[in-house]
Amino acid sequence: MAVTMAKSEVLIPFSALNGPRDAMGRPLRDLRISVMDRCNFRCPYCMPREKYHERYKFLGSHERLSFDEIVRLSRLFVKLGVRKLRLTGGEPLLRTNLSDLIGDLTAIPGVEDVALTTNGVLLARHAAELKAAGLRRITVSLDSLDPHVFARMSGGFGGLADVLDGIEHARSAGLEPIKINAVIQRGLNDHTAIDLVERFRGTGVIVRFIEYMDVGNRNEWRPDLVVPSKELLARISERWPLQPLERDYRGEVAERHAFADGAGEIGFISSVTQPFCGDCSRARLSSDGVIYTCLFATSGKSIRDALRGGASDDELLETIRNLWLMRTDRYSEKRAELRQTASDHRKVEMFYIGG
Ligand SMILES: C[S@@+](CC[C@H](N)C(=O)[O-])C[C@H]1O[C@@H](n2cnc3c(N)ncnc32)[C@H](O)[C@@H]1O
Ligand code: SF4
Repeated sequence: MAVTMAKSEVLIPFSALNGPRDAMGRPLRDLRISVMDRCNFRCPYCMPREKYHERYKFLGSHERLSFDEIVRLSRLFVKLGVRKLRLTGGEPLLRTNLSDLIGDLTAIPGVEDVALTTNGVLLARHAAELKAAGLRRITVSLDSLDPHVFARMSGGFGGLADVLDGIEHARSAGLEPIKINAVIQRGLNDHTAIDLVERFRGTGVIVRFIEYMDVGNRNEWRPDLVVPSKELLARISERWPLQPLERDYRGEVAERHAFADGAGEIGFISSVTQPFCGDCSRARLSSDGVIYTCLFATSGKSIRDALRGGASDDELLETIRNLWLMRTDRYSEKRAELRQTASDHRKVEMFYIGG
């Protein structure tokens, strides 16, 4: 039986929300903003180092949206129903003065939540200023506590100790709750998943396991490398009994489970084995101003030229609204069928579109 936690937000039916609906009746509630296409890691499932080498041409700074441009677009997205903004990348903490952007975004009327996903390597340096700028919580990606496995999963860049230090600084700064995202790949780090649970159980830090996804085209994804959440859940609950929790809000991607002994909760993001397209209310903005309506999209709509060419707010709003009204994406639900098509090889990469 599902346990209900005391939460401020209830599952609001989509029909009760204002703003445009896409072709499947889904509202626009979340915007993920990639502030930086570069990264200081080379996780093989995201930016394999053989393909993203020293000569790889990332965006130039003039090609990336400025903070003013991001804030202007965010205001427009909020007018269309967005309530939650997540800054991501690439590695968002590589973007200079990111706290200034956070301060501006948290001040937009109607924004209920600003979140940040980072690999954590630069977090110790920035946690206090992020908190002071108005960030309330943070998600840190950490795939393994085993230094050798960690090195493999991060492409040999960055150090496990730095990430753990970053988590500690986030905690001292009051950036809570801290969520840990761990991508699990069979034969690579699945044997260390239990260690993450053991380490963070009872600390208030929420570990979330993500099924390895076929985002982009460069990570050599294979279905047999996916560890289904159900399998992991069974392994974890053998050691620590778990009880399913209700979702915090409609469209939440993680399926949550509480430790029966009260030592907190863990989550599973199962886009491969349990697709959640029906509830997906997310749009994505790349660092050079392309709007995508799905993580697995093959194309998006660039808004940067209009933005820089003097388009009015009303004109930009109309463009975004129309894009949303026409949205039909449900890649994860149709994965088996769509992977057979030629366009599947043109999916945009996750570091660019924003994870
Ligand atoms: C693209 S990263 C960007 C933010 C930051 N660099 C980080 O790693 O947290 C956002 C999230 O996407 C996840 N991710 C990247 N590629 C993935 C894949 N192929 N399957 C599942 N999750 C993936 C990462 O583990 C990370 O938690
Ligand atoms: S998952 Fe994050 S840290 Fe890893 S390569 Fe991609 S953007 Fe960088």
